[in-house]
Order: sequence, then C-alpha cells, then structure tokens
Amino acid sequence: MTVVLGIETSCDDTAAAVIRRSEDGSYEILSNEVFAQHESHRPYGGVVPEIAARSHVERIDHVIRRALGAAKVEPQALDAIAATAGPGLIGGVMVGLSAAKAMALAHGKPLIPINHLEGHALSARLTEDAPFPYLLLLISGGHTQLVAVEDVGDYRRLGSTIDDAAGEAFDKTAKLLGLGQPGGPRIESAATGGRHDRFAFPEPLARREGCDFSLSGLKTSVRLAAEALGRPDRQDIADLAASFQYALARHLASRTDRAMDALAGKFGASPRLVLAGGVAANCAIKGAMKSLAGDKGWRLIAPPPKYCTDNGAMIAAAGAERFAAGLAPPLEEALGFAPRARWPLAPPPPGQEVGGGRKGPKA
Ligand code: KG4
Ligand code: ZN
Repeated sequence: MTVVLGIETSCDDTAAAVIRRSEDGSYEILSNEVFAQHESHRPYGGVVPEIAARSHVERIDHVIRRALGAAKVEPQALDAIAATAGPGLIGGVMVGLSAAKAMALAHGKPLIPINHLEGHALSARLTEDAPFPYLLLLISGGHTQLVAVEDVGDYRRLGSTIDDAAGEAFDKTAKLLGLGQPGGPRIESAATGGRHDRFAFPEPLARREGCDFSLSGLKTSVRLAAEALGRPDRQDIADLAASFQYALARHLASRTDRAMDALAGKFGASPRLVLAGGVAANCAIKGAMKSLAGDKGWRLIAPPPKYCTDNGAMIAAAGAERFAAGLAPPLEEALGFAPRARWPLAPPPPGQEVGGGRKGPKA
C-alpha cells in the first residue's frame, strides 16, 4: 500500500488529492479537491497567468489541508508527495512544486516531481482496468497527442497538433460564438440543440499522411460561416456549435484510426484505446471514439470527466506508479528540481526532433 498526496497547479485549477495504491495496482481515491479559478479569469476571456499564479498562492495551503482532512490522513502517514513540475504556466507550477518541496522537507517524505502530461497519460488507471500497453489520445487545453504508452516512463509520440490544441479550439470557438468560458462545456451544451450536418466544415490536413492534427482552421471556418449569417440567432449558434464539434470529433477519429493501424498487431489480441484530458469529457467525442474502437475491434477506456480535467489524483497516481517502480528521485535531487514551462512527455517521431513554438516540445 502506498499513500500519496498529489498537487496540481499548472494552469487555472488549484488541486490536491490523496490516493492509496495497492500492490496489485488498484487505487482508492481518498480525496480529490479542485478549486477552479474560472470566475477570476472570466472578465479577460481567457486565463491570465499572473492572476492564476496569485490565486494558486492564496489557495494552495487551504486546498492541501482540505485534501488531507477529507482523506483523514496526517502528513506523517504519507509515503510520498507528488507535484506537477511542468509543463504549464510557470508561476503556477512554482507555487505547487514549492509547497510540495516545503512539505517533503518538513515531514521528511520522498518528493516526486511529475510531468503533468504523465498525470493525464496514467489517469485512466485510477478508476479503470487499463493495463499497459495502450494507445493514448490526450486531448486537453494545452495538448493534443497520440502516444503509445508502453509502461510507466515509456512513452512514444505518434502524432500531435501542429497548431491549436483541441481544448484551445473549443475555447476560441466558444469565444467567437459569444458562448463564454470554459468553452468546451459551453459548446457541448449549445450543440445539444443543434444540427451537426448544417455546416460542412472542411477536413483539416486532408492530404497529409501520418497522425498529426491541425485544429486552428476549423475555428476560422466557424468564424466565416458565422459572419456569412450576419447576425446568427440562437439556432444558428447551436448549429454552428454542433457542426464544429462534429468536424473536430471526425478529425480526431481519423488520426486515431491511423495510429491504430500503425500499432496493429503490436498491442496484442485485445488492444486498448485510452482517452485523457479535459476534452475527453465531451460526449460527442467519446461517442466518435467508441464507434471507431468498435469498428476496429479495440476496447475504449474513458475515465469519468472529473479525472479527465485537471486534478490532483492523477498527479498522485503518477507519483505512486513512479514510487512503486523505484523511480522516485533522492530527496536532495527532488528539492533541486526546477519547475519547467516546457517538458515534452515523449520524443517526437524521427525527423521531427527540431522546432519551437507550436511544433516544439510543448506541442
Ligand atoms: O485537461 P484540462 O483540464 O487542462 C489542461 O491540461 O489543459 O483541459 C481543459 C480543456 C479546456 O480547453 C476545456 O474547454 C476543455 O478541456 N473541456 C472540454 C469539455 N470539458 C472541458 N472540451 C469539450 N467538451 C467538454 N465537455
Ligand atoms: Zn491538463
């Protein structure tokens, strides 16, 4: 049994959780506290890094105390403390990692700096039977990637976005349709009353081979269609939202289909597709993946929405898996670990190693 506190502060959620991992790899989530900052950022139409960092500072002690209290676990009873050490908004990452360092030092506990993307990559294992290896479709506000997950710490990237992340596409499109933030849930609910076949948005990267995504063009197609309508009414907005969501789901499915083909035969007789990241909470996307997986004879594993969006439990789980695999660094080394704004989970495919910006490590 390993009891781990996980701390997550890489974007606009201040989160902490306590989990217990058994030797057979099953989990008990003893607490999962998330303080979302949507209200503080709402007037600005997006996440403001300085406001996020300050809000993390104001909340972090309280959120950690609540997580320990709800789990009825004293700090002395923890086996390890795990905290997101990147990638993300650097001010926020510093707050969570510094809090974790202080606790580790004060209580003499192992500290495990976690790559936020590894937290998402392993999040399904918290609640589902998801043995290695599996194909991961990670779709969040900052990342959109297809990754072959072979084991803890053994990841191979098969494709990623060349421009916007899926969540970013939802958020920007919601903003231009006047639906507000967070964009994903707003678009999803607007789309429930809309027709997905009213606007036929072009398939991105239609002539390009491989598993990379492009999501910024869709947003432009929506803008042009909205402008052509003049003053879109409620039904127009619902149809635009539904058509956008449909086109995005279809694009994600087409690249996932290719990744499945690339892995065919390598993942055994019952291969698994795992969803992660905030956008994996979307029912239309989950539905598209379910039907793809059904057609291909793969098993779809989609964790509950609260473990898809950013949370402390997935960071604690990544910490517990690293701890169990003997991958926890010595305390001295962990205390010296510098927070990282960029930190790729897996190397890009051969031939695409160089590049910054959206093609670089964060993408
Ligand atoms: O994983 P996450 O909580 O944070 C990052 O690591 O980025 O993902 C946040 C993103 C946001 O862009 C949000 O709009 C999107 O996930 N999202 C959704 C839904 N719920 C959250 N997108 C589509 N449909 C949803 N239901
Ligand atoms: Zn995330």
